[in-house]
Amino acid sequence: MKEYVSEQLLQIINKLKKQQFIPEDIIPRFTVERTKDKSHGDFATNLALTLAKPAKANPRQIAEKIVSLLPQNGVIEKVEIAGPGFINFFLDESWLARQVSAALADPHLGVSRVKNPQTVVIDYSSPNLAKEMHVGHLRSTIIGDAVARTLDFLGHQVIRQNHVGDWGTQFGMLLALMEQLRHEGHEISMELADLENFYRQAKQKFDDSAEFATRSRQLVVELQSGNENCLALWQEFLTISLSHCQKIYDRLGVGLSPEAIYGESAYNNDLPLVVRDLEKTGLLIEDQGAKCVFLDEFKGQDDKPLPMIIQKNDGGYLYATTDLAALRYRQNQLKADRILYFVDVRQSHHFNHLFAVARKAGFLAATTEVQHMGFGTVMGDDGKPFKTRSGSVAKLADLIDEAENRARMLVAEKNPEMDAAELEEIGRVVGIASIKYADLAKNRSSDYLFSFDNMISFEGDTGPYMLYAYTRVASIFRKAEIDENSLSGEIILGEEIERELANLQIQFAEILSRVAERGTPHLLCAYLYDLASTFSSFYKNCPVLSAESEKSRNSRLQLCLLTARILKQGLELLGIGTLERM
Ligand code: ARG
Repeated sequence: MKEYVSEQLLQIINKLKKQQFIPEDIIPRFTVERTKDKSHGDFATNLALTLAKPAKANPRQIAEKIVSLLPQNGVIEKVEIAGPGFINFFLDESWLARQVSAALADPHLGVSRVKNPQTVVIDYSSPNLAKEMHVGHLRSTIIGDAVARTLDFLGHQVIRQNHVGDWGTQFGMLLALMEQLRHEGHEISMELADLENFYRQAKQKFDDSAEFATRSRQLVVELQSGNENCLALWQEFLTISLSHCQKIYDRLGVGLSPEAIYGESAYNNDLPLVVRDLEKTGLLIEDQGAKCVFLDEFKGQDDKPLPMIIQKNDGGYLYATTDLAALRYRQNQLKADRILYFVDVRQSHHFNHLFAVARKAGFLAATTEVQHMGFGTVMGDDGKPFKTRSGSVAKLADLIDEAENRARMLVAEKNPEMDAAELEEIGRVVGIASIKYADLAKNRSSDYLFSFDNMISFEGDTGPYMLYAYTRVASIFRKAEIDENSLSGEIILGEEIERELANLQIQFAEILSRVAERGTPHLLCAYLYDLASTFSSFYKNCPVLSAESEKSRNSRLQLCLLTARILKQGLELLGIGTLERM
């Protein structure tokens, strides 16, 4: 809707240019905002004010001119000029009602698919495999997944890429331990069942024994140069480590499968080619034996350009080298139009540098968009990054267990008579929803405080509240035994709150395109929360089943149904499963 108003205004700007009312070459920076106070209409624009200078005219006069050029097509009921020259738009009520009917008749809820679908590569989750997945991997995994789902829903071609760290120096250590254990007759798969402990053992030996450390270094070199024994051990490690990750994805309901895995090791053979091609561009400079790229835009404190090290003096490659190879693969093989990286904001220097070098080197088409969708840290209540009570890094598997247990207790309190099997299932859904929603609802660029008490509660803007809001709407139909598909008749928006609810309902598409553009699922959370709260007031103030006429009852039931469908679909796009009862 906002787009509709903006579109009309852009057409008017063109007309004004043709009429030489404003110069041809200006690009007005105007806004169209939803108004908070409905007495000022549904939207307002400052366009006339921004044109005052170029048109050399009084903004109120310009506003009148703009209003006279607006098309009469039944969408806008009336416009008013306010204050120094703002224009307020009032939506036509019957148009609004028709939009609601149309959304309800559409399985896609009135959200049209984009006209020009893009191939969007999304790099998310991407854990380093040496350890088990921990709280630091939570945000990338679930924010990336929500954005992937949204882009997919809008009709883009989404390619998920799990850029796992499966090739770094720590693998030497892990292989050395595997080798030793096997030699001593231990069953490696048993030892690896607890990856965390396994990593700790390897690290301990590495620090304590010079012999072990030497062997570890040897093994990395052998692994990276293709020694079959090393590769076989490494493969064993990988299989177990990845199955741990997959278990977490499945429990969280995250749409990552083994097909999405394309980790650092996959680029091993490309690394020399990256060096060769960078050499050809003349960007590669030898500095103390290392091959580096220096760009003037990236300077250190001493005002000298910072190096991006591509190859160390011992021949080893770095994180950035692999990322350059990955970028090229995504561009050339996956044919990406857009590449999104859901990675900790603390890596923003790395990504800015990477994108700049890739552009300079011609590894990226000019039209390809690349964006680092950085996110903040999950904090504990001591103001430091979240840890377990014992002070160790919180494993995701343990966090999920705890959330599910707590959610089960919360639900049991509400429903003492519920049988164990149902409680188990509901506890699982509510637990996962709690963790995911708490994270997704925060602006991704800021840090947030992890608190089970706050997230596992029916009070406030929480996962359980959203699930409950959905079941409440859905249960209207079940309790009254109304077939959802039998509803028909006109939508009547007699009450202010009905109008407000309808107005929100038709904003779904607008919100989704913003989430897709900016990679910000918190906008969808805020919208759904708003929808659920507005629905609550509507339900309190407007009798539905006992409405005074059949017509009004039918109209209100349709408003309920569209609310339920948007809530369910919206939560699904966030990766949150719903329950029909709880
Ligand atoms: N494995 C890296 C880490 O844990 C994140 C990788 C993100 N993706 C990328 N293409 N660099 O920090």
